[in-house]
Amino acid sequence: MAKDYIVKDITLAAFGRKELDIAETEMPGLMACRTEFGTTKPLKGARIVGSLHMTIQTAVLIETLVELGADVRWASCNIFSTQDHAAAAIAEGGTPVFAIKGQSLEEHWDYLDKSFAFPDGANMILDDGGDATLYILYGARMEAGEDLLPVPQSEEEVAIKAQILKRIAETPGWFAKTKADIQGVSEETTTGVHRLYDLHKKGELPFPAINVNDSVTKSKFDNKYGCKESLVDGIRRATDTMMAGKVAVVMGYGDVGKGSAASLSGAGARVIVTEVDPICALQAAMDGFQVTTLDDVVETADIFVTTTGNKDVIRIEHMRRMKDMAIVGNIGHFDNEIQVAALKNHKWTNIKEQVDMIEMPNGHRLILLSEGRLLNLGNATGHPSFVMSASFTNQVLAQIELWTKGDEYQPGVYILPKHLDEKVARLHLDRIGVKLSKLDAEQAAYIGVSPDGPFKPEHYRY
Ligand code: NAI
Repeated sequence: MAKDYIVKDITLAAFGRKELDIAETEMPGLMACRTEFGTTKPLKGARIVGSLHMTIQTAVLIETLVELGADVRWASCNIFSTQDHAAAAIAEGGTPVFAIKGQSLEEHWDYLDKSFAFPDGANMILDDGGDATLYILYGARMEAGEDLLPVPQSEEEVAIKAQILKRIAETPGWFAKTKADIQGVSEETTTGVHRLYDLHKKGELPFPAINVNDSVTKSKFDNKYGCKESLVDGIRRATDTMMAGKVAVVMGYGDVGKGSAASLSGAGARVIVTEVDPICALQAAMDGFQVTTLDDVVETADIFVTTTGNKDVIRIEHMRRMKDMAIVGNIGHFDNEIQVAALKNHKWTNIKEQVDMIEMPNGHRLILLSEGRLLNLGNATGHPSFVMSASFTNQVLAQIELWTKGDEYQPGVYILPKHLDEKVARLHLDRIGVKLSKLDAEQAAYIGVSPDGPFKPEHYRY
């Protein structure tokens, strides 16, 4: 049989498998799902397309979904985030995966398309950033005659448009059929969730979606404590620069910004925060960080990190004013936080994979990480397994919910109930030696909760 995967080097599978074995010991939530649901196989019949960074941790997620009965095909949601040994281990295990670290944008969309190629078509999406969902929904509209991208504004848009037109030419009606077959999507990240709410507001979301990001055990852990470990890891592996004493600017003080500022300050950098939201600005100030505008510090800071999920946060006029050898990177989902396109006509010197030195007109050089794509996954290996276990346990529960009870949901965006959020947290306590206290009946009645939870009202913010 022809091979049904695209990976960099299948001989890396044995190395990938060893790291997978280690990761499993750090992912108690996913392993508990295998124990709880491994015999009943609630995902039997689900044909899940995954579009999420193809890392070792994701490999443990994939094998959990398979153990729960699903058929799975996988692509990465970012051209630089794949760990080739993880992809090889998954391919060797028999799950089709299409992902290479450093793939081109054209390959990115081609690989996503290939991940939909189940013999009977896909019926579920597990998304990170919304590319798989958008591919199907934009494709269906273009198939119906709309030209959604008459003049593509970026290399990204050129690539997605070309792939959609190719699929329409090869298999007319494919997008409409796939759109009709999809029963639900679970979305991993803030940016993808924004896209889903936006689609729903416009009446363009045809299936139910679970917002995994806003489970407390996702965004308040992965986005925060995950970035706290992986941001500095990425900068160090890329540059080996001394952090202590450097001035670092973190743009945005949401969950990722909080983790990123903590990461840099933990490494000894002096951290300055920029924000547009007065609440987050006040939080940053009261956490001890100077809060000011990028304009004020752009000439003096050493390291710049965007965490906003917004666009054009570091603009070309900022980069022209930065000091020689300033380090510039992004940890938000897309690369448009930094105006990388405006640097294309400058002199680039590649230092190593995902590290470039760019000469500005005044002779100053910038070190740009991962071409402005999320640097913790491009320059390092993303978040550690333990925190990804919490995120991915939410993903598994969301997939089970949508697959087994999807018909009880109208199209819309939903969050998993609090008792499941608490369950995900509970599954991670033993591994780090946490002992919970227990409410007695009187105490529980006094604060108005059940002794077994949920322990907080819906409006509680953690
Ligand atoms: P968030 O919404 O909690 O935080 C973003 C913050 O940026 C907000 O407080 C907002 O007020 C601020 N902001 C927006 N525009 C700004 C501007 N022009 N200048 C300064 N501040 C501005 O979102 P969250 O969860 O922190 O996620 C941020 C991004 O990181 C998203 O794209 C998300 O998908 C991505 N993400 C990346 C991860 C990674 O491992 N690299 C992990 C989790 C999320």
